[in-house]
Amino acid sequence: MKNRTIWNKGTILVAIISIAITGCMQTETIEIEREMEGPEYTHAVAILQPTEGFEASGTVYFTKVEEGVNVTAEITGLSEGNKGFHIHQYGDCTAANGTSAGGHFNPDEMDHAGPDDAMRHMGDMGNIVADADGNATIDYVDGTININMILGRGVIVHNGEDDLTSQPSGAAGPRVACGVIGVAAGTE
Ligand code: CU
Ligand code: ZN
Repeated sequence: MKNRTIWNKGTILVAIISIAITGCMQTETIEIEREMEGPEYTHAVAILQPTEGFEASGTVYFTKVEEGVNVTAEITGLSEGNKGFHIHQYGDCTAANGTSAGGHFNPDEMDHAGPDDAMRHMGDMGNIVADADGNATIDYVDGTININMILGRGVIVHNGEDDLTSQPSGAAGPRVACGVIGVAAGTE
């Protein structure tokens, strides 16, 4: 059983992690209080371009909803299968292999995990699944992503599957597409 409570008041004030273990039942409660300055952005977008030697491209949208952030994406030019899909630390796609985007965006200094885990990198969006034609879409609500905190950072799609456990980044292989997250139309 996992509970996550985040108050977005606008700079990170406090991060509290408490783990209570009763018998075999483990309850994780994470309370993160963030104090943001300036406007709260509600819409963001990243246009992904292929890295050298690959043909993957697409668009990723982040939209604030009541339960978190709705992540939707359409990616083409992939090989079939599960592809690691993450927000990386830097919005820097200048390196031919995408490594200039740095590691996974991890403002709360947690281990790598999956999108449904309470304790994870903020950038851990798991996998996007490409069909036999190399097309992939995703549409889910993420309870951890904070749009103000991901602006100007990178989105990376990998050539392999994120196993959601290997540290520090899920052993997802080379980076096949890279994009920078910007403010999208729809934000007041
Ligand atoms: Cu990645
Ligand atoms: Zn990660």
